[in-house]
Amino acid sequence: MILVTGGAGFIGSNFILDWLAQSDEKIVNLDKLTYAGNLQNLSSLTGNPRHIFVHGDIGDIELVSRLLAQYQPRAIINFAAESHVDRSIHGPEDFIQTNILGTFRLLEATRAYWNALETAAKQNFRFLHVSTDEVYGSLIQNEPAFTEEHRYEPNSPYSASKASSDHLVRAYHHTYGLPVLTTNCSNNYGPFQFPEKLIPLMIVNALTGKSLPVYGDGLQVRDWLYVTDHCSAIRRVLAVGDPGETYNIGGWNEKPNIEIVQTICDLLKELYPDSMFHHLITYVKDRPGHDRRYAINATKIERELNWKPAETFETGIRKTIHWYLENRQWIADVQTGAYREWLEKNYAESQSSQ
Ligand code: NAD
Ligand code: TYD
Repeated sequence: MILVTGGAGFIGSNFILDWLAQSDEKIVNLDKLTYAGNLQNLSSLTGNPRHIFVHGDIGDIELVSRLLAQYQPRAIINFAAESHVDRSIHGPEDFIQTNILGTFRLLEATRAYWNALETAAKQNFRFLHVSTDEVYGSLIQNEPAFTEEHRYEPNSPYSASKASSDHLVRAYHHTYGLPVLTTNCSNNYGPFQFPEKLIPLMIVNALTGKSLPVYGDGLQVRDWLYVTDHCSAIRRVLAVGDPGETYNIGGWNEKPNIEIVQTICDLLKELYPDSMFHHLITYVKDRPGHDRRYAINATKIERELNWKPAETFETGIRKTIHWYLENRQWIADVQTGAYREWLEKNYAESQSSQ
């Protein structure tokens, strides 16, 4: 079996659903259930003995050690993290706790477990750390996309904490020989993404006639990947990736934010011709330290591991919009008081800037 951390979040829950649909191997899912963790994402697995959920923290060494001893996983996939840049700007502490200290403690428990394994199990064991392209910092227009050799230059507390965890993972391979794999992926979108991130926030706001807050001039560029393509890449890296290596994952889909928001409005207009959406677009105060452009060069994973994304942005964004339209109750259930307080806090100063 495998141990997945953060499996009640956006990417982790997609990963678990895909994994269990394609393999007989069991999953132990360790998740702290922060505001971003939602067991409703996994409700289709209720009663499924192949999914074992454990409520807990990756930083709880005793708990993690007990789970490792009990379930003897052949691999750990670490999704658990604080993941939202804006939240890291308002309060970096949780990011340091989970992304840095939490990963460190998870690595410590893993090292002790791995050291005690028999030779074959020790050789076959993998620790796969799920990271982000944001560790590389910001690109200027026309600069070549990030390769795995690009220097680390994180700019936000979020990306700095992820960079720190990547370095720890690397050091555990270099120093102790732990068979680690690191993936650095671009921006994901798709089902179950918490509506604080750009794409689900814009869909959810548009559906309720709320303004669509575009930071700054809206010309910041991100490289977008449909979440199930990220999951297939992780499965591929786990299966055939070389221990100690890092793999960039991306969809060759660079787009400025304003184009994303306009596309969402266009597609909603197609579905609801009598409604108006584009007038909801509102330029607001920019995010402090906002990275201008991310772009992933995915040549290594494509050539060495023979992975390619299945979705284009055009197919992925349609699927995503349909998912949110068909899951109104999921949206209502995540829009708790805490969610409303977050919107209030993050967008309080968001008067129209242009
Ligand atoms: P998310 O915020 O939706 O989910 C994170 C999950 O981790 C939640 O279920 C949360 O409860 C859990 N968690 C948080 N702290 C924990 C702790 N201390 N112990 C155990 N569980 C804890 O995040 P996501 O978007 O699914 O991202 C998953 C991973 O992928 C993160 O490591 C993130 O850095 C990385 N990543 C995300 C993107 C993206 O676009 N979302 C892109 C590249 C990489
Ligand atoms: P986000 O989804 O938060 O991901 P990240 O910051 O990790 O790339 O934001 C994606 C882009 O969209 C980023 O350039 C910030 C921008 N953005 C807005 O313009 N308005 C918003 O309300 C949000 C949440 C993001």
